This record gives sequence, structure tokens and C-alpha cells, in this order.
Amino acid sequence: MTDSIDRSAAPGERLPVVVVGAGAMGGEWIRMLAQSPHAVVAGVVDLDVELAASTVASAGLDGVAVGNSVSEIAERAGAAAVINVTVPQAHRVVNEQALRAGFPVLCEKPLAPTVAEALRQVALADVTGELLMVSQSRRYFNHLTAFRGAVAALGPLAVVDAEFFHADHEPGFREQMAHPLLVDMSIHHFDQLRYLTGDEPVAVRCSSWNPPWSWFAGDAAASAEFELASGARFVYAGSRCTPGLQTSWNADWRVQGERGAAAWDGDDVVRVEADGVGFDVPDRSEGIAASLEEFVGALRTGTTPQNEVRANVLSLAMVEGAIRSSERGGERVVIADLLEESLAQAIADEQRDDVAGLLMSWTSAADGIATPAWGSAPASIASGGAR
Ligand SMILES: NC(=O)c1ccc[n+]([C@@H]2O[C@H](COP(=O)([O-])OP(=O)(O)OC[C@H]3O[C@@H](n4cnc5c(N)ncnc54)[C@H](O)[C@@H]3O)[C@@H](O)[C@H]2O)c1
Repeated sequence: MTDSIDRSAAPGERLPVVVVGAGAMGGEWIRMLAQSPHAVVAGVVDLDVELAASTVASAGLDGVAVGNSVSEIAERAGAAAVINVTVPQAHRVVNEQALRAGFPVLCEKPLAPTVAEALRQVALADVTGELLMVSQSRRYFNHLTAFRGAVAALGPLAVVDAEFFHADHEPGFREQMAHPLLVDMSIHHFDQLRYLTGDEPVAVRCSSWNPPWSWFAGDAAASAEFELASGARFVYAGSRCTPGLQTSWNADWRVQGERGAAAWDGDDVVRVEADGVGFDVPDRSEGIAASLEEFVGALRTGTTPQNEVRANVLSLAMVEGAIRSSERGGERVVIADLLEESLAQAIADEQRDDVAGLLMSWTSAADGIATPAWGSAPASIASGGAR
């Protein structure tokens, strides 16, 4: 940590942040931040500095530091935090640069391509003492919150079903990935399942494939069945190359419980068939604006945000478990086994002694992700929100 840097922003002031990654989603973040009461863009970093400058200009912003070095721009801009909107393969490296320079990070999903890389980042956040939060922005929808309220009243659940069908034309890293659906998109839906039910994955069987007309190099379609800790099943089907009868980006959901059923179309329609079960739709900010709000709030109060890095590992384990099952012909993959194998891989891959030492000190991966560290934030942060 670099305690000597003054990264203060009084409560009520907008937190100065550096956005790393000025591509399609980086542009979305920068435009959202330009209107945000919670944070302000102080710097933008990209390997392509011209792209960073043009994205800043097209958002109509002045006085924003631009460059290709995370730590240099964050220091020069007087930033208090970093928002990582680079491609998934770069997330860990960029997060490491920021955290080791003393800046907390809000990182776009997926946190990493593998659980092993995610575990290295759990340990890294501990070693640096900085907050690392994953922006799982699709948790923050008012109708999902309403649906969640209805689902909670259904009693024990039998089946949760989610379907995602889209025809995505977003050239770039997605079209080159081995698993563009599971790694880049289903992570949202798997994370939403955990938010919706409070249940956790135990095992998965999955099949993924690439339809013959697909414009993706890797598998753009998959079907999976997860066993959950409660005994319920999560049945998922998705495709990124299915023109016609497309679902919401949030998928189309149906839940069957002991007392009845509830459904959400992923947008603004929630339906319930269960005696005495209703729901309220809150009126709060949604998507990346809400994710940012939670991040800034956590920095200012020292509270643990729901997507603190540890809490995200099981969402990623659902993705990797599904991929592993598919690659093994639909074999049942046990999530606890995957976690432990990932810890061994993380220790083998890690180059830095402090992070490797911490990983080796865990009695298990489950132990390592059990207790969020950020809730025990330094008193100066917890008391005043001075960041
Ligand atoms: N939450 C959502 O709904 C949502 C939607 C779209 C994308 N995303 C996520 O946002 C991230 C970015 O997606 P995108 O569509 O903007 O990708 P993109 O390819 O359009 O942009 C990524 C940018 O990151 C830059 N970059 C790559 N490595 C870097 C590094 N080491 N340092 C600095 N810059 C680097 C690239 O030059 C590029 O400009 C991905 O993780 C993606 O999954 C989230």
C-alpha cells in the first residue's frame, strides 16, 4: 500500500477514478461517470492511447489525464480508485498494478478466465489491503430485486430455469474466445442465480457447442444443469447466435417452489402464481451505475460490498465447472473439487512470494474465500469514508 498518497474525497464529493480500458464498455462507463453524483473520471488508460483520448473527447470531458500506465496516470490524476474495463485476459494484471500501487479496484466481469486466476486475486487483495470488487452489474435491476422477493416467499425450491437467446455481433475478443457464451455472458446469469436464491452450486453437468452458422470461433451455445446446496436444480440454456425470439440480456427466468411459481422476463415483467405471495418493485439506480454506487459506498464506510472478490469466486466456479464438464463429455463436475484443484494451480502459477505464501497458508480454497477481508478495513476509512 502507498499510504503517503492523499486519495481523499469527502463524503458528498465525487470520488476521482481512473478508467482502464477505453473500448466499447469503457466508453459506457465513462459516459455513465460523466453524469454520476458518486464519482468523476480523473484519468483514462488504454494500451491504445489515441483511443483513450478520443473516448474522453467524445464524452465531452476536459482535464482528464490519459496514458498507457495504470499507476502513473492514477498518481498524476490524483485518483482514489481504478475501474478496470479491459478484456478478461488482462483483468488480473491490471488489477495487480492498481492494487500494488495502493488503489482499490472495481473490476468488470469476468474477474478472470479461470478460478485459479481469481484465487490469486483474492490473495492479492489481502496482501495489499485494498478493496477488489467485481462489477456484476446484472445483479442491480429493480425487477430482479422484486422477483427475488417473490422467490423468497415460495418456500423450498425445486427448479430454477433460465434461458438466454441472443444474436450478438460485437467483434473483438468475444468472437475469438473458446467459450464466449459461458465465460463472457453466462457469468452474469450464474451470478444472478446466486443473488436470486442465496443458494450455492455443488455440481454441474454441461454440454456446449457451436451452431454451424455461428460467427463465433468458440462455443456460442450451451446447456447446463447445476445441483444446488439446497437440493434444488438450476437448469440453464443459452446461445449468442440465435436470431429470432430473443430474450432479455438478463435471460428469461422461471422458479418452481413448494408454494407456487414465479417468473421474470429479464426486463420489467414479474409474474407470481402462489397464494399470498406478492412483490414490490424498488426505485433505485440499476446496472453499472448501481455497481459504482455500492463500490464508492463500501470505500467510504468500510462495509463489505456484495461482490467483494471472494464472493465472486463461486460464480466463476460455475462457469469453469460448466466448461470442464462439457470438455469431459458431460461428466458431473463437483465444484468443491474444482476449487481445490484451482488452488493448487494458483500456487503453481503465482510468481510473487507474498501472494504465493498466502495461498499456501490457506487450509483449503473454501477456507481462503470464506471470510471477506474488506469488512475489517482500516478505521480511518470505516469512520470517515476518506478516500
Ligand atoms: N457489464 C456488462 O454488461 C458488460 C457489457 C460489455 C462488456 N463487459 C465487460 O467489459 C470488459 C471490456 O469489454 P469491451 O467490450 O469494452 O472490450 P473491448 O475489446 O471493446 O475494449 C477493451 C479495451 O481494453 C484495452 N486493454 C486491453 N488490455 C489492456 C491493458 N493491459 N491495459 C490497458 N488497456 C487494455 C484494449 O486496448 C481495449 O481498448 C470485458 O470484461 C467485458 O466482459 C461488461
